[in-house]
Amino acid sequence: MSVTSGQVVEILRAAGEPTRLRILALLFREELSVLELCTVLGQSQPRVSRHLKLLAEAGLVERFPDGAWVFYRLAAQGGGRALVEGVLALIVPDDAALAVDAERLSRVTAERGAEAAAYFARNATHWDEIRSLHVAEAEVEAAIHDLVGEAPMGLLVDLGAGTGRMLTLLGGLARRSVGLDLSQQMLNIARLNVSEAGLAACELRHGDIFDTGLPADCADLVTVHQVLHYLGDPAAAVAEAARLVAPGGRLLIVDFAPHALENLREQHQHRRLGFSDEEIGRWMSDAGLAMEAATALPPARAGLTVKIWTARRPALADRSAA
Ligand SMILES: C[S@@+](CC[C@H](N)C(=O)[O-])C[C@H]1O[C@@H](n2cnc3c(N)ncnc32)[C@H](O)[C@@H]1O
Repeated sequence: MSVTSGQVVEILRAAGEPTRLRILALLFREELSVLELCTVLGQSQPRVSRHLKLLAEAGLVERFPDGAWVFYRLAAQGGGRALVEGVLALIVPDDAALAVDAERLSRVTAERGAEAAAYFARNATHWDEIRSLHVAEAEVEAAIHDLVGEAPMGLLVDLGAGTGRMLTLLGGLARRSVGLDLSQQMLNIARLNVSEAGLAACELRHGDIFDTGLPADCADLVTVHQVLHYLGDPAAAVAEAARLVAPGGRLLIVDFAPHALENLREQHQHRRLGFSDEEIGRWMSDAGLAMEAATALPPARAGLTVKIWTARRPALADRSAA
């Protein structure tokens, strides 16, 4: 996308300051809360917020409040995005200032990851109980069944499989299924559940949703059930999930609509307080999928609406006709 010379000057002015360039380099890695940016940059919140305001005004970053937290990410498109990417690409990979920030950021994300992992390890044995505290699980599962249908499929991949509920729910339709999770404790329980359900062709793997190691276009259905709100970079997880979807296949994401239950952050390690249709739709279409449905299931208790989003990768015939 082209911009005017005046806009280029404004963009360069906004990016042309050491702290602001550091912020852009950090947000290029992943979306971050203001507090996390302050920790990594070692600067006060008012200072960091002032820089962020200037970057947002120049269209270089997007601000999105999420409950009591405010997150920032690089603007998805536009001339500013191209310019920022170009500038960051010019910087030597071992640039001293940015290397320190990257190191601090990896400490922040490792801490976040360790807290979440400890939470899942602690709660693995009664996870199915915890799951049903917030939502009418039977209703969600019936809606998933309706959306997926009864047609047999080749490969089902469930990312963030937890105790294996999606696999036991849908695995009967698939010739083969793969469940992937970072928590060994969760996987142990999933193995038990999958075997009790008689799903012999189901493989449970230890792995990361951001880097599944699975081949592109391999799955007829990829499910991501109640995982995105824990993640530092949900957009990257959706991109990786979508990469696995074969032509004509589908991605099914279940998570919460935007809500205000701030206590879920402290008590249950949630990072994001739900997702809008617009946000999920954008990530899906960025990954080449066409959104099919966004089903809302009203709260079982005040405040939490479960959403089921499905999207399809166009079949090869559709693509050549287009
Ligand atoms: C809330 S549980 C949901 C489990 C299951 N999908 C369900 O709905 O019952 C979230 C799961 O995501 C897993 N998880 C979190 N971060 C992950 C990552 N980066 N890669 C793979 N799994 C992850 C956790 O270990 C946990 O089992």
